[in-house]
Amino acid sequence: MEEDGPRVVLLDQRRLPDEEVELACETAAQVATAIKDMAIRGAPAIGVAAAYGLALAALRGDDLAEAERVLAASRPTAVNLPWALVQMRDDPTPERARALHREEVDRCRRMSAHAAELFRPGTRALTHCNAGGLATGGYGSAVGALRAAWERGVLAHVLVDETRPLLQGARLTAWELEAAGIPSTVIVDGAAAAMMACGEVDLVVTGADRIAANGDTANKIGTYGLAVLAAHHGIPLYVVAPTSTIDRATPTGAEIPIEERDPAEITSRFPARNPAFDVTPAALIAAIVTEDGVWTA
Ligand code: MRU
Repeated sequence: MEEDGPRVVLLDQRRLPDEEVELACETAAQVATAIKDMAIRGAPAIGVAAAYGLALAALRGDDLAEAERVLAASRPTAVNLPWALVQMRDDPTPERARALHREEVDRCRRMSAHAAELFRPGTRALTHCNAGGLATGGYGSAVGALRAAWERGVLAHVLVDETRPLLQGARLTAWELEAAGIPSTVIVDGAAAAMMACGEVDLVVTGADRIAANGDTANKIGTYGLAVLAAHHGIPLYVVAPTSTIDRATPTGAEIPIEERDPAEITSRFPARNPAFDVTPAALIAAIVTEDGVWTA
């Protein structure tokens, strides 16, 4: 957040890994558009961006109720977005937004340390989408767990699902793991089953966009399929997410709103459906790891 603009400056994730380009937003509506168009994405990161967006509206003297409405409407599934806006209501200042950002990164470091306890020496992990620093405003949740496990010497290799259709795995997670010096290999989403069958996967670790009160978890489309595959092969699937992703007001996964994006992200030639998230039933999740610890059923 640059107060002398004022403006909110984002790293445009659509351009990665080829280009590191900043995107400047001068209004809350522009921040909302950046979230909707996925210049910034990942549940905690869009919460942080929305907090800065509201602070921007306050600095400009804009209508805060309208700014909150526009930001909240930008993407429906990640609960971190409305959660962050509620956190900002009493104090819509840059300082509060920065504190929220710092707290979110701190939660990531703590949950990653807990999650690393689940790794045995030589672990070969598989991850989906991008739950790294880009998605969280800093260290990462699922990728944070991989980083912490790597630092402890218990992670051998990461298989990275490419994550159709926007390739958050092949573009963003692979880029982050490369920068961290963690050995990784990108696979097409459809290869996960064969990799598990060959015994090349010891655990699956993902982030989350919303965890319902019963533990059902919405995450990037394809996570549910991975959970079914992992159960079939007797492999644990761990969800690593901050408490800001837990939505106690939503009883089960059936009530989580699932974003359906423009089919043109898949094909403009044929009719297509583009649900951006799916729900993994709690029974298929070996543990949910938050900054408070490792939670099993
Ligand atoms: O559509 P995206 O890229 O915003 O989806 C992101 C995910 O599904 C992530 O796994 C989730 O937000 C966790 S990020 C720490």
